[in-house]
Amino acid sequence: MSDSIKIAVIGGDGTGPEVTAEACKVLEAVAPLEGISYERVDFDYGGDRYLATGEVITEQQIDELRQFDAIYLGAIGHPDVTPGILEKGLLLAIRFQLDQYINLRPIKLYPGVDTPLKDKGPEDISFEVVRENTEDLYCGAGGFLRKNTPQEVATQEMIATRFGVDRCLRYAFELCRRRKDKMQLTLVHKTNVLTYAHDLWERVFYEVAEEYPGITADYAHVDATCMWMVKNPEWFDVIVTTNMFGDIITDLGAMIQGGMGIAAGGNINPEGTSMFEPIGGSAPKYTDQNVINPIAAIASCQMMLAQLGEAQAADAVERAIIEVVSKKMKSMDAGRMGYGTSEVGDLVAGAV
Ligand code: IPM
Ligand code: MN
Repeated sequence: MSDSIKIAVIGGDGTGPEVTAEACKVLEAVAPLEGISYERVDFDYGGDRYLATGEVITEQQIDELRQFDAIYLGAIGHPDVTPGILEKGLLLAIRFQLDQYINLRPIKLYPGVDTPLKDKGPEDISFEVVRENTEDLYCGAGGFLRKNTPQEVATQEMIATRFGVDRCLRYAFELCRRRKDKMQLTLVHKTNVLTYAHDLWERVFYEVAEEYPGITADYAHVDATCMWMVKNPEWFDVIVTTNMFGDIITDLGAMIQGGMGIAAGGNINPEGTSMFEPIGGSAPKYTDQNVINPIAAIASCQMMLAQLGEAQAADAVERAIIEVVSKKMKSMDAGRMGYGTSEVGDLVAGAV
């Protein structure tokens, strides 16, 4: 028996709590089979709490989350809260304060799942995006000058540090080595225009690459990457990129792997507490209708198990997901799955 794992669960907004319930259902099914004991503590951070109390989350409360082995998050985003308050105040605050410097997003098309890409199948769409998660345009550096005048100036700065770039690149090289797939790491950037921040990325990339002679160090501009993700997704193995570009290309990635309903992600601090969440948002219009797809949430739970060192449990969850998406579900889209949200959770839990 492993020691008891402590998991903080934040259901969040909109459909977040519904999909979280299904992810927890699957966790509860797989844990005893793999001899995992865990404690789950629920937190009510999110839009409703903010509207009721005026408080998003405090530094102390984030420090409390640091005591957990992992955090599971459903979704953030509330129609009655000004955009930015919860995103910056909760999601980005946790990512930054817990130094979750990697955002890992696998783009994997499972058999039987529809992709909008003509003539592409599971053998073509199978790569991972390593998105830097603590720097770049997300730092919040910038400001206004002469605000609300015709001469207004607004700046938003892109920040890259050698330390931040180096640790992200090393994580990506190590992941590429572990995958043992095409042994190719593609740096995605825009070195032809962003000649300072991206120049630093490029220099550190080829420096670190020397330590990984078995891995091909590949490069693609971000705009061309969007083209190739559609035209030749089979070219990719592991992509490493900045926070902003990673945000954008992983929405495209989610679409080619079958949609937001199946796209999972993890905010990883390899030396600390990581947080797992579906890539998609809170989908307010589908709230409490039992129509949202919980697979992305369940797959995020699978990533959490893998990060916690429970590889067998993670594999069991992945096999169960494949079984259900390939043989049972009609579609990955909300309302078209052929089942309700909780039934899909039951099916996966039953298949583990
Ligand atoms: C994501 C989201 C967030 C991001 C938003 C909600 C702040 O789009 O996780 O991809 O930009 O990182
Ligand atoms: Mn995004």
